[in-house]
Amino acid sequence: MTTHKIRVGMVGGGPGAGIAKAHRMGMRLDDRYELVAGVFSRSLEKSQQAAVELGVDPDRVYESYEQMALQESARERGIEAVVIVTPNDSHFPVACAFLEAGIHVICDKPMTGDLDEAERLHDIAESRGLVFALTHNYSAYAMVREAAHLVRAGALGELRIAMVEHASGWAWTSVEDDLNNKQAAWRLDPAQSGTTSLISDLGTHAHQLLRFVSGQEVTEVSAELNTCVPGRRVFDDAQLQVRLANGARGSLWVSMAATGHEHGLRFRLFGDKASLEWCQMDPHYLTLNYPDGRRETRVQGHDSQSDDQARLTRIGLGHPEGFIESFANLYSDIADVIERYRDTAQSACQDRPLPTSRDGLLGVRFVKAVDESHNAQGRWVSIAL
Ligand SMILES: NC(=O)c1ccc[n+]([C@@H]2O[C@H](COP(=O)([O-])OP(=O)(O)OC[C@H]3O[C@@H](n4cnc5c(N)ncnc54)[C@H](O)[C@@H]3O)[C@@H](O)[C@H]2O)c1
Repeated sequence: MTTHKIRVGMVGGGPGAGIAKAHRMGMRLDDRYELVAGVFSRSLEKSQQAAVELGVDPDRVYESYEQMALQESARERGIEAVVIVTPNDSHFPVACAFLEAGIHVICDKPMTGDLDEAERLHDIAESRGLVFALTHNYSAYAMVREAAHLVRAGALGELRIAMVEHASGWAWTSVEDDLNNKQAAWRLDPAQSGTTSLISDLGTHAHQLLRFVSGQEVTEVSAELNTCVPGRRVFDDAQLQVRLANGARGSLWVSMAATGHEHGLRFRLFGDKASLEWCQMDPHYLTLNYPDGRRETRVQGHDSQSDDQARLTRIGLGHPEGFIESFANLYSDIADVIERYRDTAQSACQDRPLPTSRDGLLGVRFVKAVDESHNAQGRWVSIAL
């Protein structure tokens, strides 16, 4: 196996950017990547400023992502993968430019801003046969992997009910009035992100997490969207009912107006033998509840659990890990797949459950179905699988 560090470029992640820091920290944690190129901002000057801070060679800072894709693909020891951390509406053209240049893509969610783009991008990713990883980091928490393992091992019995909340309080008031709030500027602008940006932003995480842990596809949705904060131009709260492929029913509460909540991400699954629950604010613990009153708390780092949980626990019992480690876990899985690709030209690896362009496509179909259902007074809308 070829073992040099994976050379990556980044699009987005300039001064003041949000999630790019977590990507960079996640990549550094296991030391399997080197950031060697970038278009960190639309402004070349800001991009160059970021490159100095990140130790990226100024000759590999480009004016545009198109230029970076062309020049890096032509260069000896050019980038092998690109990380896309720009606002949603630019994911499609950026991802296409790199896939067409033969470069693997690591893209933040949602995969694209609209469904037509998602369908096209999925086709391109499939036909190119390159690695396309979507950074749904929550399914890379060690105890979320443990939950998925337990569900598949039959610990809950037949799944009956699934409840997922991604009810954040980050926009409980008019954060869009603060012109320095870079993250609010595009998320709360319907012209750039659509009126259902909440579903693209947080709903796709809840949807992917539910599918990942339960192992069941979401087949139908009935949605009611609401705007809590006066004057806001997008929906900021969503109550969604879902039907799963095995006949189970579920409910997703997705919000950015859940006053006093921080990130507000948790799930509860109920089977005919037991139920389980996990909460992102306390991610080391997974609780199983039994009908005879027993409650069993599984703790991250114990050696009695799944291989996946053990593999993704870095230090061990009693040493808290969290959000950055979830990115590091995902980047470690992506590194395994890219390194394997170097030797086999295979872009998939069964042991490494990466969210792919298919998950991205289903996520964007889910957003569209929610919108359609809300506009039809909550009518059940099917989601093509
Ligand atoms: N996985 C997660 O948990 C998570 C969390 C937050 C955000 N996200 C996703 O990450 C993406 C970025 O979100 P954010 O909150 O960090 O946004 P942000 O607004 O904080 O940062 C976006 C960055 O992209 C740069 N940019 C915009 N267009 C560009 C272009 N054409 N070329 C180069 N740079 C460009 C901006 O200058 C900025 O530096 C979004 O898709 C969002 O949905 C994911």
